[in-house]
Amino acid sequence: MQDYPTTYTTPLIKLDRTSRQLGLDVYAKLEYTQPTGSHKDRETLMMIQDALSHGYREIAIASTGNAAISLSFFSKINGLKCHVFTHRNIPREKLELIKALGAELHLTGDNLRQAFQTCIEYINQHDIYDANPGRNFKKIEGDSTIAVEIAAQLDEEPSRVIIPTNNGTLYAGIWQGFTKTKYRPKLIGATAPTTKLADSIAGFTKLDEKELNKALNESKGTLIEVSDDETLNATKQLYRENIPCEPASATTLAALQKLHKTDKPTVLIITGTAMRFSATLAKVMTK
Ligand SMILES: Cc1ncc(COP(=O)(O)O)c(C=O)c1O
Repeated sequence: MQDYPTTYTTPLIKLDRTSRQLGLDVYAKLEYTQPTGSHKDRETLMMIQDALSHGYREIAIASTGNAAISLSFFSKINGLKCHVFTHRNIPREKLELIKALGAELHLTGDNLRQAFQTCIEYINQHDIYDANPGRNFKKIEGDSTIAVEIAAQLDEEPSRVIIPTNNGTLYAGIWQGFTKTKYRPKLIGATAPTTKLADSIAGFTKLDEKELNKALNESKGTLIEVSDDETLNATKQLYRENIPCEPASATTLAALQKLHKTDKPTVLIITGTAMRFSATLAKVMTK
């Protein structure tokens, strides 16, 4: 592996306007400042190091976009061949980006779970590193560093941390991270199973279901489902805070708007930048 760190620390900033409007302290953990624009780099960098140290030449993942974009980039520059399995309903602009990053694209099925099944069958027939959620715990380990950073960046224990959730890997990782710190916030997973806007978390696929359920139990956490109208408003609100994030990330603010006030701060995990996806940006900017 080239001489890269396996983790990049991201900023934690206070959202002044939103805090004033909601009457509580709201912070945003800016995961969208990672090298390829999403928290997935934390998972990828751990896995690339693991794959190379075990002598693999190829790596495969099923993904709705950001994990594939991240894995394609870091595979290419580290000399690994990357196979991306994804379904026919993911936005064209994400497919273009994955292709531009040199991955071999396997378009299969109508949803992530179907792409995942095909990916596993392919891995079983070849000597390929498995980078899939629910099968590779380096991903959870990578995401756990987010919580360790929050504990170092925030003087006060947050009452809750809100996490956009699809497979549950990120949620499980953040919980694992907090168990290594003195903070035990309530973890809230924001979901959008039927969304047409927050495509990165569409379906609530739960490929890491076992770890998600364990983390939900241990953290006494909950899941909150949000609608596309709520997500659109929250995305615009975050743009006004100078945070051009993906709608999937703004589900955190949409979920917060359904919760009661607390004295202690709330942290939103802003997972992905919108600045790579012109069609998705236009959906928000033109409404
Ligand atoms: C931008 C963004 N936010 C949140 C998530 C949810 O992460 P997880 O699938 O680990 O629950 C994803 C997953 O792809 C994502 O791309």
